[in-house]
Amino acid sequence: MSDLLNALNWRYATKKFDPQKPLAPEKLARLLEALRLSASSFGLQSWKFVVVEDREKRTALVEHSWNQTQVVDASALIVFCRPTTFKIAEVDRLIALTASARGVDESGLEGYAGMMKGFLGNLDATALRHWMENQIYLALGNLLSACALEEVDACPMEGFSAENYDELLGLGDLGLASVVLCPVGYRSADDAYAGLTKIRYPAEEVVVRI
Ligand SMILES: Cc1cc2nc3c(=O)[nH]c(=O)nc-3n(C[C@H](O)[C@H](O)[C@H](O)COP(=O)(O)O)c2cc1C
Repeated sequence: MSDLLNALNWRYATKKFDPQKPLAPEKLARLLEALRLSASSFGLQSWKFVVVEDREKRTALVEHSWNQTQVVDASALIVFCRPTTFKIAEVDRLIALTASARGVDESGLEGYAGMMKGFLGNLDATALRHWMENQIYLALGNLLSACALEEVDACPMEGFSAENYDELLGLGDLGLASVVLCPVGYRSADDAYAGLTKIRYPAEEVVVRI
């Protein structure tokens, strides 16, 4: 099996992390860099990855996480956030960065900017929120694969109260709202879930060739 498939078979949604096993800073940095490199619609990157390492803060989050202790026991907790409001000026910011990074004139990117603004301008607040969340889930998937290749354990988590997280972590003051979580670290030697057979529908069923 390829390294990638071995890694994806090795990974699992870790239920019990070893609180005594921290991730080396350079390991965490590599995972965050993988996150930063995630693909996004138009490349707009409307996300922030909030890293919570402070155990006291994370202890307070457990009761707002369906009492799931991964949020405190893992080495770090990554809270995937979207901006509370998407500002259309973000398009101009991306265009300016693209022009300077690639050494091209902004005027050559006007068509692209117009297309982005046209698309985004047609979305109401709910659709914009969904659009941002879709990008964030893509980044989450990317992180899970990166973790697997780095032999780091992770648990994607939707089982939490976004409202309480936003309040406890002061995310609203940063103009952010939490969307999904991913604690990262190392599995506990006695996590019973580590040895469970992976449950996936067969390829013939999930891959449709037409
Ligand atoms: C978006 C999302 C949210 C999830 N939320 C939780 C969660 O709150 N708690 C948990 O223990 N597992 C959670 N899971 C893990 C899934 O249950 C798990 O990925 C699935 O059962 C497949 O198992 P595997 O990842 O171990 O292969 C979540 C997974 C995803 C993708």
